[in-house]
Amino acid sequence: MSVATTPAAQTELVVSFTLNGRPVQVRTRALDSVLAVLREQLQIGSVRVGCNEGDCGVCTVLLDGEPHRGCLLPAFVAEGREITTVEGLGDVNQLHPLQRAFHEHFASQCGFCTPGMILTAKSLLDRSPAPSREEIVAAISGNLCRCTGYRSIIRAIESVAQQGGR
Ligand code: FES
Ligand code: FES
Repeated sequence: MSVATTPAAQTELVVSFTLNGRPVQVRTRALDSVLAVLREQLQIGSVRVGCNEGDCGVCTVLLDGEPHRGCLLPAFVAEGREITTVEGLGDVNQLHPLQRAFHEHFASQCGFCTPGMILTAKSLLDRSPAPSREEIVAAISGNLCRCTGYRSIIRAIESVAQQGGR
């Protein structure tokens, strides 16, 4: 499928939003995605490019706390809202509990899916701190992982849930 590039689609927009707790402003066009803006203008490398069609989940970001496919989300939708990427959760000196659990449970192998997986898990635990295994499986069902077989990921998320979900 091709998308016609109309003059309207080329119109530049200025979009202001909060990224990982700090205000940012970008110039974008109507068809530009959050994924493109984060990677190309804001150098957020954790938001990965996979299928670019909404199927794999590696581009997952949190928009006001809810997981969304960055490749399908038009950048203008972020106006006045909060985007969180895994850079906003923790860093090597102070890992978020989910980051630590993924490390301890070997839930990250090549790591390509890991940022999106962790953000999806964070959203789940924020709204449901003690999810069942079935709820965890359902929550991450849209995030594909080609390496781990998912068991270690599920165990990592369960371990954080057992500590109170945060
Ligand atoms: S790159 Fe967005 S869902 Fe695959
Ligand atoms: S760890 Fe490699 S795709 Fe998930």
